[in-house]
Amino acid sequence: MLIKRPNDVLPSEITDETVYLKRRELLKRAGLVTAGAMAGHSVFAAASEEDPSGRILTDVRKSPLSTDEPPNSWRDITTYNNYYEFGTGKEDPYQNAVDFKPRPWSVAIKGACDKPGNYNYEDLVSPHVLEERIYRLRCVEAWSMVVPWVGIPLASMIKQFEPNSKAKYVRFKTLHDPKRMPGQRRGSLDWPYEEGLTMEEAMHPLTLMAVGLYGRELPNQNGAPLRLVVPWKYGFKSIKAIVEISFTSRRPRSSWEQAIPSEYGFYANVNPEVSHPRWSQARERPIGAGVFASKKPTLMFNGYADQVASLYTGLDLRKNF
Ligand code: MTE
Repeated sequence: MLIKRPNDVLPSEITDETVYLKRRELLKRAGLVTAGAMAGHSVFAAASEEDPSGRILTDVRKSPLSTDEPPNSWRDITTYNNYYEFGTGKEDPYQNAVDFKPRPWSVAIKGACDKPGNYNYEDLVSPHVLEERIYRLRCVEAWSMVVPWVGIPLASMIKQFEPNSKAKYVRFKTLHDPKRMPGQRRGSLDWPYEEGLTMEEAMHPLTLMAVGLYGRELPNQNGAPLRLVVPWKYGFKSIKAIVEISFTSRRPRSSWEQAIPSEYGFYANVNPEVSHPRWSQARERPIGAGVFASKKPTLMFNGYADQVASLYTGLDLRKNF
Protein backbone atom coordinates (compact mmCIF):
# COMPACT_ATOMS: atom_id res chain seq x y z
CA MET A 1 0.00 0.00 0.00
CA LEU A 2 1.63 3.18 -1.11
CA ILE A 3 -0.36 5.94 0.50
CA LYS A 4 -0.46 5.78 4.24
CA ARG A 5 -2.69 7.41 6.78
CA PRO A 6 -1.33 10.07 9.17
CA ASN A 7 2.24 9.13 9.80
CA ASP A 8 4.16 9.82 12.91
CA VAL A 9 7.56 10.34 11.46
CA LEU A 10 9.06 13.74 12.16
CA PRO A 11 10.91 15.36 9.25
CA SER A 12 14.04 15.21 11.38
CA GLU A 13 13.62 11.47 11.84
CA ILE A 14 13.26 10.54 8.22
CA THR A 15 16.30 12.40 7.12
CA ASP A 16 19.88 11.46 6.78
CA GLU A 17 20.46 15.19 6.48
CA THR A 18 21.93 15.21 9.99
CA VAL A 19 24.55 12.78 8.83
CA TYR A 20 25.09 14.93 5.77
CA LEU A 21 25.47 18.11 7.83
CA LYS A 22 27.76 16.42 10.35
CA ARG A 23 29.96 15.28 7.52
CA ARG A 24 29.89 18.78 6.12
CA GLU A 25 30.87 20.21 9.48
CA LEU A 26 33.87 17.87 9.61
CA LEU A 27 34.85 18.85 6.09
CA LYS A 28 34.45 22.52 6.95
CA ARG A 29 36.72 22.16 9.93
CA ALA A 30 39.21 20.49 7.67
CA GLY A 31 38.95 23.51 5.35
CA LEU A 32 37.57 21.45 2.49
CA VAL A 33 34.10 22.87 2.02
CA THR A 34 34.90 26.56 1.75
CA ALA A 35 37.42 26.01 -1.01
CA GLY A 36 35.01 23.77 -2.91
CA ALA A 37 32.08 26.10 -2.36
CA MET A 38 34.04 29.05 -3.69
CA ALA A 39 34.98 27.09 -6.77
CA GLY A 40 31.32 26.10 -7.04
CA HIS A 41 32.19 22.49 -7.76
CA SER A 42 32.14 20.69 -4.44
CA VAL A 43 29.56 18.01 -3.98
CA PHE A 44 28.89 19.70 -0.66
CA ALA A 45 28.77 23.26 -1.96
CA ALA A 46 25.08 23.91 -2.48
CA ALA A 47 21.95 23.95 -0.34
CA SER A 48 23.94 23.87 2.85
CA GLU A 49 23.09 25.30 6.22
CA GLU A 50 24.75 28.55 5.08
CA ASP A 51 22.76 28.75 1.87
CA PRO A 52 19.89 31.27 2.24
CA SER A 53 17.69 28.96 0.20
CA GLY A 54 18.24 26.28 2.81
CA ARG A 55 16.69 27.88 5.89
CA ILE A 56 14.71 25.66 8.23
CA LEU A 57 10.93 26.00 7.89
CA THR A 58 8.90 26.09 11.07
CA ASP A 59 5.32 25.00 11.88
CA VAL A 60 5.26 22.28 9.26
CA ARG A 61 2.30 19.91 9.60
CA LYS A 62 2.63 16.27 8.61
CA SER A 63 0.25 15.14 5.90
CA PRO A 64 -1.82 11.93 5.74
CA LEU A 65 -1.13 11.95 2.00
CA SER A 66 2.53 10.97 2.39
CA THR A 67 3.87 7.68 1.11
CA ASP A 68 5.47 5.34 3.63
CA GLU A 69 8.41 4.64 1.33
CA PRO A 70 11.74 5.91 2.65
CA PRO A 71 12.78 9.20 1.07
CA ASN A 72 15.93 9.58 -0.99
CA SER A 73 18.85 11.28 0.68
CA TRP A 74 19.24 15.06 0.65
CA ARG A 75 22.24 14.50 -1.55
CA ASP A 76 20.36 12.43 -4.17
CA ILE A 77 17.54 14.95 -4.30
CA THR A 78 19.76 18.03 -4.58
CA THR A 79 22.53 16.79 -6.87
CA TYR A 80 20.60 14.76 -9.48
CA ASN A 81 18.25 17.25 -11.10
CA ASN A 82 16.51 18.23 -14.30
CA TYR A 83 16.47 22.01 -14.70
CA TYR A 84 17.40 23.06 -18.22
CA GLU A 85 17.62 26.73 -17.21
CA PHE A 86 20.87 25.73 -15.49
CA GLY A 87 22.12 23.14 -17.96
CA THR A 88 21.08 19.81 -19.40
CA GLY A 89 23.34 17.52 -17.31
CA LYS A 90 22.05 16.03 -14.07
CA GLU A 91 24.67 17.81 -11.94
CA ASP A 92 24.54 21.10 -13.89
CA PRO A 93 21.64 22.60 -11.89
CA TYR A 94 23.36 21.87 -8.60
CA GLN A 95 26.60 23.40 -9.82
CA ASN A 96 25.25 26.30 -11.88
CA ALA A 97 22.37 27.47 -9.67
CA VAL A 98 24.54 28.06 -6.63
CA ASP A 99 24.52 31.87 -7.03
CA PHE A 100 20.90 32.23 -8.06
CA LYS A 101 19.01 34.57 -5.69
CA PRO A 102 15.40 33.45 -5.23
CA ARG A 103 14.47 36.60 -3.26
CA PRO A 104 12.82 39.02 -3.66
CA TRP A 105 10.25 37.05 -5.67
CA SER A 106 6.81 37.81 -6.96
CA VAL A 107 4.23 35.91 -8.98
CA ALA A 108 1.88 37.53 -11.52
CA ILE A 109 -1.66 36.17 -11.24
CA LYS A 110 -3.56 36.65 -14.50
CA GLY A 111 -6.64 35.70 -16.46
CA ALA A 112 -10.03 34.41 -15.39
CA CYS A 113 -10.03 35.29 -11.71
CA ASP A 114 -11.35 38.09 -9.51
CA LYS A 115 -8.09 38.77 -7.66
CA PRO A 116 -5.39 39.17 -10.33
CA GLY A 117 -2.21 41.10 -9.59
CA ASN A 118 1.38 40.80 -8.52
CA TYR A 119 1.76 38.90 -5.30
CA ASN A 120 5.04 38.78 -3.47
CA TYR A 121 6.29 35.47 -2.14
CA GLU A 122 5.36 36.21 1.46
CA ASP A 123 1.76 37.20 0.53
CA LEU A 124 1.37 33.94 -1.34
CA VAL A 125 2.82 31.68 1.32
CA SER A 126 2.19 33.21 4.75
CA PRO A 127 -1.65 32.84 4.78
CA HIS A 128 -1.24 29.05 4.58
CA VAL A 129 -0.20 26.19 6.84
CA LEU A 130 2.85 24.39 5.48
CA GLU A 131 2.59 20.62 5.08
CA GLU A 132 5.20 17.95 4.68
CA ARG A 133 4.25 15.63 1.81
CA ILE A 134 6.48 12.67 1.09
CA TYR A 135 5.75 11.90 -2.54
CA ARG A 136 7.10 9.60 -5.20
CA LEU A 137 8.59 11.44 -8.18
CA ARG A 138 8.69 9.58 -11.51
CA CYS A 139 10.58 11.22 -14.33
CA VAL A 140 9.57 10.54 -17.94
CA GLU A 141 13.19 9.38 -18.40
CA ALA A 142 12.30 6.29 -16.31
CA TRP A 143 14.09 7.10 -13.07
CA SER A 144 12.36 7.77 -9.75
CA MET A 145 12.90 9.19 -6.29
CA VAL A 146 10.94 9.74 -3.10
CA VAL A 147 11.00 13.35 -1.94
CA PRO A 148 9.89 14.86 1.39
CA TRP A 149 8.46 18.13 0.05
CA VAL A 150 7.16 20.98 2.18
CA GLY A 151 4.41 23.01 0.60
CA ILE A 152 0.88 24.29 0.33
CA PRO A 153 -1.98 22.48 -1.38
CA LEU A 154 -2.27 24.32 -4.70
CA ALA A 155 -6.06 24.41 -4.21
CA SER A 156 -5.67 26.56 -1.08
CA MET A 157 -3.39 28.98 -2.90
CA ILE A 158 -5.68 29.16 -5.94
CA LYS A 159 -8.73 29.98 -3.80
CA GLN A 160 -6.91 33.20 -2.80
CA PHE A 161 -7.24 34.43 -6.39
CA GLU A 162 -10.96 33.62 -6.75
CA PRO A 163 -10.96 32.01 -10.23
CA ASN A 164 -14.26 32.45 -12.11
CA SER A 165 -16.31 30.08 -14.26
CA LYS A 166 -14.19 30.80 -17.39
CA ALA A 167 -11.16 29.22 -15.66
CA LYS A 168 -10.87 25.74 -17.20
CA TYR A 169 -7.06 25.45 -17.14
CA VAL A 170 -4.14 26.85 -15.19
CA ARG A 171 -0.93 27.86 -16.96
CA PHE A 172 2.37 28.27 -15.12
CA LYS A 173 5.53 30.04 -16.28
CA THR A 174 9.09 29.88 -15.00
CA LEU A 175 11.24 32.99 -14.63
CA HIS A 176 12.77 34.08 -17.95
CA ASP A 177 16.06 35.79 -17.16
CA PRO A 178 19.03 34.56 -19.20
CA LYS A 179 21.41 36.64 -17.06
CA ARG A 180 20.44 34.64 -13.97
CA MET A 181 19.62 31.37 -15.74
CA PRO A 182 22.55 30.54 -18.02
CA GLY A 183 20.78 27.63 -19.74
CA GLN A 184 18.33 30.14 -21.20
CA ARG A 185 21.14 31.58 -23.30
CA ARG A 186 20.92 28.38 -25.31
CA GLY A 187 17.97 27.20 -27.37
CA SER A 188 17.49 23.83 -25.64
CA LEU A 189 13.82 24.81 -25.13
CA ASP A 190 11.62 27.72 -26.19
CA TRP A 191 11.89 29.87 -23.04
CA PRO A 192 10.30 30.47 -20.63
CA TYR A 193 9.44 26.96 -19.47
CA GLU A 194 5.64 26.63 -19.36
CA GLU A 195 3.30 24.03 -17.95
CA GLY A 196 -0.42 23.56 -17.56
CA LEU A 197 -3.06 21.61 -15.69
CA THR A 198 -6.81 21.32 -15.98
CA MET A 199 -8.60 23.22 -13.23
CA GLU A 200 -9.66 19.88 -11.73
CA GLU A 201 -6.06 18.66 -11.61
CA ALA A 202 -4.89 21.94 -10.11
CA MET A 203 -7.56 21.75 -7.39
CA HIS A 204 -6.89 18.07 -6.59
CA PRO A 205 -5.80 17.59 -2.95
CA LEU A 206 -2.54 15.88 -4.01
CA THR A 207 -1.33 18.85 -6.10
CA LEU A 208 1.22 20.81 -4.15
CA MET A 209 2.98 24.15 -4.45
CA ALA A 210 6.30 23.23 -2.88
CA VAL A 211 8.40 25.77 -1.02
CA GLY A 212 10.81 23.37 0.65
CA LEU A 213 12.16 19.89 1.10
CA TYR A 214 13.55 18.01 4.05
CA GLY A 215 12.12 20.72 6.33
CA ARG A 216 14.16 23.48 4.66
CA GLU A 217 13.44 26.11 2.04
CA LEU A 218 13.87 24.76 -1.50
CA PRO A 219 17.42 24.61 -2.80
CA ASN A 220 17.86 26.57 -6.03
CA GLN A 221 18.38 23.44 -8.11
CA ASN A 222 15.01 22.06 -6.97
CA GLY A 223 13.11 25.14 -8.14
CA ALA A 224 13.42 27.83 -5.44
CA PRO A 225 11.51 29.63 -4.24
CA LEU A 226 8.37 27.82 -5.35
CA ARG A 227 7.62 24.97 -7.74
CA LEU A 228 4.74 22.72 -8.60
CA VAL A 229 4.56 19.04 -7.57
CA VAL A 230 2.01 16.79 -9.29
CA PRO A 231 2.98 13.31 -8.07
CA TRP A 232 0.86 11.22 -10.46
CA LYS A 233 2.33 12.90 -13.55
CA TYR A 234 5.78 12.68 -15.10
CA GLY A 235 8.20 15.05 -13.40
CA PHE A 236 8.31 17.55 -16.26
CA LYS A 237 4.84 18.78 -15.25
CA SER A 238 6.32 19.90 -11.91
CA ILE A 239 7.51 23.30 -13.13
CA LYS A 240 10.15 25.17 -11.11
CA ALA A 241 10.73 28.82 -10.12
CA ILE A 242 7.20 29.94 -10.97
CA VAL A 243 6.64 33.64 -11.75
CA GLU A 244 3.25 33.52 -13.46
CA ILE A 245 -0.02 31.68 -12.90
CA SER A 246 -2.86 32.30 -15.40
CA PHE A 247 -6.41 31.01 -15.46
CA THR A 248 -7.46 30.29 -19.03
CA SER A 249 -10.39 28.91 -20.97
CA ARG A 250 -8.08 27.31 -23.57
CA ARG A 251 -5.70 24.46 -22.92
CA PRO A 252 -2.14 25.73 -22.51
CA ARG A 253 0.67 24.13 -24.52
CA SER A 254 3.51 23.09 -22.26
CA SER A 255 7.16 23.52 -23.23
CA TRP A 256 7.91 19.86 -23.82
CA GLU A 257 4.66 19.34 -25.72
CA GLN A 258 5.61 22.27 -27.93
CA ALA A 259 9.18 21.02 -28.41
CA ILE A 260 8.35 17.38 -29.34
CA PRO A 261 4.56 16.86 -29.55
CA SER A 262 4.93 13.24 -30.69
CA GLU A 263 6.74 12.36 -27.44
CA TYR A 264 5.29 14.60 -24.72
CA GLY A 265 1.59 15.24 -24.28
CA PHE A 266 -0.44 17.62 -22.16
CA TYR A 267 -1.58 15.04 -19.60
CA ALA A 268 1.71 13.21 -19.00
CA ASN A 269 0.13 10.88 -16.47
CA VAL A 270 2.53 8.17 -15.32
CA ASN A 271 1.40 5.08 -17.22
CA PRO A 272 3.41 1.84 -17.42
CA GLU A 273 1.23 0.67 -20.32
CA VAL A 274 1.96 3.56 -22.66
CA SER A 275 5.56 3.57 -23.84
CA HIS A 276 7.48 6.67 -24.69
CA PRO A 277 8.16 6.39 -28.45
CA ARG A 278 11.84 5.71 -27.67
CA TRP A 279 11.65 3.60 -24.49
CA SER A 280 9.32 1.57 -22.33
CA GLN A 281 7.69 3.14 -19.29
CA ALA A 282 6.95 -0.24 -17.67
CA ARG A 283 9.87 -0.08 -15.23
CA GLU A 284 11.89 2.57 -13.47
CA ARG A 285 15.34 3.01 -11.97
CA PRO A 286 15.17 4.17 -8.36
CA ILE A 287 17.90 6.77 -7.84
CA GLY A 288 20.15 5.95 -4.92
CA ALA A 289 19.56 2.21 -5.07
CA GLY A 290 23.02 1.56 -6.52
CA VAL A 291 24.17 0.72 -10.01
CA PHE A 292 23.50 -2.99 -9.62
CA ALA A 293 19.97 -2.60 -8.26
CA SER A 294 17.29 -3.91 -10.57
CA LYS A 295 14.62 -1.65 -12.00
CA LYS A 296 11.22 -1.83 -10.38
CA PRO A 297 7.78 -1.88 -11.97
CA THR A 298 6.18 1.49 -12.59
CA LEU A 299 2.75 1.91 -11.07
CA MET A 300 -0.27 3.38 -12.82
CA PHE A 301 -0.53 7.08 -11.98
CA ASN A 302 2.74 6.55 -10.07
CA GLY A 303 0.82 4.71 -7.32
CA TYR A 304 -1.84 7.40 -6.88
CA ALA A 305 -4.54 5.70 -8.98
CA ASP A 306 -7.02 5.40 -6.09
CA GLN A 307 -6.96 9.15 -5.66
CA VAL A 308 -6.78 10.40 -9.25
CA ALA A 309 -8.08 7.78 -11.74
CA SER A 310 -11.59 9.28 -11.56
CA LEU A 311 -10.25 12.54 -13.05
CA TYR A 312 -9.76 10.69 -16.34
CA THR A 313 -12.91 8.58 -16.59
CA GLY A 314 -13.82 8.16 -20.25
CA LEU A 315 -10.52 9.59 -21.51
CA ASP A 316 -8.45 7.42 -23.85
CA LEU A 317 -5.12 7.51 -22.02
CA ARG A 318 -3.23 6.22 -25.07
CA LYS A 319 -4.36 9.12 -27.20
CA ASN A 320 -4.24 11.62 -24.37
CA PHE A 321 -0.74 10.72 -23.20
N1 MTE B 1 11.05 23.17 -14.44
C1 MTE B 1 11.78 24.02 -15.19
N2 MTE B 1 11.52 25.33 -15.12
N3 MTE B 1 12.78 23.59 -16.00
C2 MTE B 1 13.07 22.26 -16.15
O1 MTE B 1 13.99 21.90 -16.93
N4 MTE B 1 12.51 19.97 -15.47
C3 MTE B 1 11.38 19.10 -15.11
C4 MTE B 1 10.74 19.55 -13.78
N5 MTE B 1 10.59 20.99 -13.73
C5 MTE B 1 12.31 21.33 -15.38
C6 MTE B 1 11.31 21.84 -14.51
C7 MTE B 1 11.73 17.69 -15.04
S1 MTE B 1 11.99 16.92 -16.52
C8 MTE B 1 11.74 17.00 -13.86
S2 MTE B 1 11.94 15.30 -13.86
C9 MTE B 1 11.63 17.69 -12.57
O2 MTE B 1 11.56 19.11 -12.71
C10 MTE B 1 12.83 17.34 -11.73
O3 MTE B 1 12.72 17.91 -10.46
P1 MTE B 1 13.96 17.77 -9.45
O4 MTE B 1 15.18 18.26 -10.17
O5 MTE B 1 13.61 18.59 -8.25
O6 MTE B 1 14.08 16.29 -9.14
